Amino acid sequence: QHIACIFDLDGVLVDTAVYHYQAWKQLANSLGFDFTYAQNEQLKGVSRMRSLDMILKWGGIEKSEAEREALASLKNSWYVAMISKMTTDELLPGSLKILENLKAIGAKIALGSASKNSALILKRTGLTHFFDAIVDGNEVTTSKPDPEVFVKAAELLGATNKDCVVFEDALAGVQAAIAAGMYVVGVGETENLPGAQLVIKDLSEITIAELLALKNQETE
Ligand code: BG6
Ligand code: MG
Repeated sequence: QHIACIFDLDGVLVDTAVYHYQAWKQLANSLGFDFTYAQNEQLKGVSRMRSLDMILKWGGIEKSEAEREALASLKNSWYVAMISKMTTDELLPGSLKILENLKAIGAKIALGSASKNSALILKRTGLTHFFDAIVDGNEVTTSKPDPEVFVKAAELLGATNKDCVVFEDALAGVQAAIAAGMYVVGVGETENLPGAQLVIKDLSEITIAELLALKNQETE
């Protein structure tokens, strides 16, 4: 099958978005302000340092480079404490099944995540063995919406960009996949993910047969 799948991690395969939110909220509160759920949406798919910069801006706070590094580390220490307790119960609906089914047809599978914590999350949730390639925040120099993360993943899989299907819950990620010339399945709400060829609520909403059919239609 000429199909290679690249999965975003947070918010697509695993339910970690809630932990990022809690940890950032705790950090903002410690600095004396708060941000909304809608603002939090804008942080999805965005790197740790860039997320911090956006949050500080919302709070009207300026910090030196050294202070920003310290704040990002503090947030990450809280976040790591939370994800260290994750279990397979925190897989999002359909993620295990789609990975199993893709493996069964011999499709190549990669991770394309902005997170620097992907190894721990994959380990805790038992997903590591599914991946032929893992590209995360430790391997990229330019974050989503730049296509680097997905282009690297495709290269490692030995796949051409147009043979790749990307699963993404963040607008920045959808934009990155489009910029790479890949087929994008948005995971979440249609209005939050303009540009995705297809949007599903979660991974349980699509079968491999449907995916292959959509992909073939596209390239005809
Ligand atoms: C993305 C998340 O997957 O990873 C963002 O959607 C997060 O919310 C980013 O900021 C970086 O994650 P980490 O684990 O390196 O802080
Ligand atoms: Mg995500």
